[in-house]
Amino acid sequence: MATAALTIPRPDDWHLHLRDGAPMRAVVGHTAAVFGRAIVMPNLRPPVETVAQAEAYRARILEALPAGSRFEPLMTLYLTPRTTAEEVARAAASPHVHGIKLYPAGATTNSDAGVADLGGIEAVLAAMEEHDLPLLVHGESIEPGIDVFDREAVFVERQLAPLCERFPRLRVVLEHITTADAVEFVLGAPPTVAATITPQHLLLDRNALFDGGIRPHHWCLPVLKRRRHREALLRAVASGSPKLFLGTDSAPHEVGTKHAACGCAGIFSAPLALPLYAEAFEEAGALHALEGFASRHGPAFYRLPVATETVTLRREPWSVSASYPFGEGHVVPLRAGGTVAWRVESAP
Ligand code: DOR
Ligand code: ZN
Repeated sequence: MATAALTIPRPDDWHLHLRDGAPMRAVVGHTAAVFGRAIVMPNLRPPVETVAQAEAYRARILEALPAGSRFEPLMTLYLTPRTTAEEVARAAASPHVHGIKLYPAGATTNSDAGVADLGGIEAVLAAMEEHDLPLLVHGESIEPGIDVFDREAVFVERQLAPLCERFPRLRVVLEHITTADAVEFVLGAPPTVAATITPQHLLLDRNALFDGGIRPHHWCLPVLKRRRHREALLRAVASGSPKLFLGTDSAPHEVGTKHAACGCAGIFSAPLALPLYAEAFEEAGALHALEGFASRHGPAFYRLPVATETVTLRREPWSVSASYPFGEGHVVPLRAGGTVAWRVESAP
């Protein structure tokens, strides 16, 4: 008989975009209702480059939380060509900063302040290794002429593998992996290297971008890949590897900026993220592995305690809203107007 309910330690989201201002205040509650902590991405405009900026951003998030919420935002800094070893030391000393995010310049939303030449940030990477502060990586090549579907595999081979060899003690999270190539690299790498996986890359392949017409709410970066890559991701999470953990990459954009001639990349999944993962793990025949992925492997990597509170999922379908308020406008979630097979029955 199919499993009807599942109780796991309160999960965390190890990769989340909360935005700022009114949009942030509109979405943070979706995550805080289920997840205990989240690694908050720093790709605001202007980017969160310093510990002082991260502290101020954290204060704004805490202020926006519903009364009584114990949700903890785990802050990150945005690595730019200007980042200094001194800022790395300050970040490592802060109880609130948990990593530094590397965006190859121009690779994705608000990444123009990122790094074009990895050779120019060696001193910063050495300082991060020294201070044992994790490097979080958007793993897509920005070399001209590389096909958009190949950017992750090319980055892994040409940039990430050499970087991990050069800094063998640096803890690295390859964020939102999408390919069999990335799975093979991460699973074969030393324990210092881990990865997050989104619900959309476990549930959808690239055909979902063109299902009867162009589907802007399936557009994210890294872009969805072909079916064999999705299958490799499902096999990887089913293996129970401690190197893999939950990171939704929930990335809300106002609906008008998605329904546009040049629409923004980003999928909003926060209100239904945990149920979507349950669907994916069920499809993989691996519901037993969801607890490690959602609640245990991330804390172990980031050296934080596993939650003592629990969340219960029940196999009971519900209908997803067509949209949610987002600042002055709206945001359309993944699966908008559709049905999800699992629901969060109780959370702290
Ligand atoms: O699809 C994406 N959206 N990928 C990213 O890397 C950034 C994110 C965003 O901030 O919207
Ligand atoms: Zn992201």
